[in-house]
Amino acid sequence: MTKSGMHTFHLIILPIVLLCCAVGICGETEEQGTCTKDDGVDCGSTSSSLEVSPIITKLDGVEVGHVQDVILGGKTHQMTTLSMKPQVLEIKHFLTDEECDHVIRLAKKDGMFDSVTNTPTKSGSVKVMDMNQDTALSLREFILTIENSFDIYLDEDDMLKMYSELGMDRNGDTEISREELHGQDPKSVIDWLTDYVDKRPYKKSRMSRQAWLYPSKIHDKILDEIQERVVSLVGLPRILIDKNDEFQVVQYGPKGHYHAHWDSGSWAEKYPCCHHVKSGARCKSCRFMTVLLYLNEVEGGGATAFPIANNETFDENSFRMSGKINLHRHCEDANLVVPAEKGKAIIWYNHHLDPTTGWVGEMDSFTLHGGCGVTSGHKWIANKWILVSDKRDKDLDPNFRPNRT
Ligand code: OGA
Ligand code: FE2
Repeated sequence: MTKSGMHTFHLIILPIVLLCCAVGICGETEEQGTCTKDDGVDCGSTSSSLEVSPIITKLDGVEVGHVQDVILGGKTHQMTTLSMKPQVLEIKHFLTDEECDHVIRLAKKDGMFDSVTNTPTKSGSVKVMDMNQDTALSLREFILTIENSFDIYLDEDDMLKMYSELGMDRNGDTEISREELHGQDPKSVIDWLTDYVDKRPYKKSRMSRQAWLYPSKIHDKILDEIQERVVSLVGLPRILIDKNDEFQVVQYGPKGHYHAHWDSGSWAEKYPCCHHVKSGARCKSCRFMTVLLYLNEVEGGGATAFPIANNETFDENSFRMSGKINLHRHCEDANLVVPAEKGKAIIWYNHHLDPTTGWVGEMDSFTLHGGCGVTSGHKWIANKWILVSDKRDKDLDPNFRPNRT
C-alpha cells in the first residue's frame, strides 16, 4: 500500500541506509500511488459520465444484489453484484473443481516462491509519523512509523516488548519523546525488528507463496480454456489479455494473509507501467482490472475483505491510524467480506474510466482490499490482472511488445 500523503506529517527524518534490506523486505514493487483528495485528483468519475465512446468498457453491476446471466463458452453463469463502490461482481462456479485442482497442480509443478511486496524505504530514510505533531510518538504513531517504513505490522504488545527489551521508554509512559528517540541507536531498533520478524514472518504485510503461469508458454489446454473464459467475461480488447497473459497463483498457509492494499496505483504517477520496463526499474502498477479466482475451500478464514467499500469518503491517514489495514485483526470490520469458495470468481476495476479519453482514469481508492488471515488449512487463489498503460495505441497494437525481462 502506498504511503503518499504521509509526508506532510513527518517531523523528523532519520537517515538510515538500506533499512529495508537490513530487515529482509526489499522486494518488487507491488502497488504504488493512490487516488486521494489530497492529490487534487477526482476519484469519482464513472463510465456513465463518459464524453467520448469508451475504448475500454466496464460491466454494469446495476445495483447491489442484482443477478445477471453471462454466457461463457456456451455455459450460462450467474453474476451477482456484491458492491457498487467499488463495483465488485461475483460469479460462483466460474471454474470447475477439476480446473481448480489442475491450476494448483500446475503452480506446484512450476515451483512456489515467497511473495514479496514493495517497501517505500528504498530511499534509505525513515519517516517518523508524528501525526499530531506533539514531538512525541504514541504507540499507534510508532506502529505506523514501522508499518510505513519497514512493512512490518506490530501490535501494542509487540511494541511494549521492544520498548522493554531495548530500554527505550525510559519514563515508562508508553510515549517515545524526541529525547528518547534520539537517545536510541537506530541500528539497535533495526536489529530488534529484523530478529523479531524473522521469527514471526506473519508480521509482514503479506505472507504467502506464489507462482506465475504463462498460458502462451506452457500451452496447457485447461489453462487456455480458463483464459478464454476470462476474455469472454470481461469483454475488453483481447489483445490486452493476450499481451499479458500471466496468472499469479497464490498459496496462503496458516497465518497467511495479505493486509489491505491496492492492486494498482495512481494513474498520475510519472513512472512507466511496470509491465513496460525491466524488473527492478522504478515503475507503477497499471492493473485496470482484477479477476480473482478461488481455487479451494479454506478450512478457516481467508476471506477477501474490502475495508472501505461504500464509505462516503476516504482519508488514507486516518485509515492507517485506525489500524484497520491489518486484516488479521480487522477482517470482520471490513465493509465487504467475500468468503473464499472453490471455483468462485470475483472481479473489480481498480481504475475509473477517463471521460475525456475513454481510456483508463485515476485509481479508485475504494478498491482497497486484502486477504484475511487463514486460521486453519491453506488457501489457494489465482489472480488475473488486466494490464493497460497510458500508451494506449501501443497497448492495442499487436506488433508492439514491451521489452521487459
Ligand atoms: C492479491 C489479493 C486477496 C485474497 O493477491 O492481490 O488481494 O483474498 N488477494 O487473497
Ligand atoms: Fe490484491
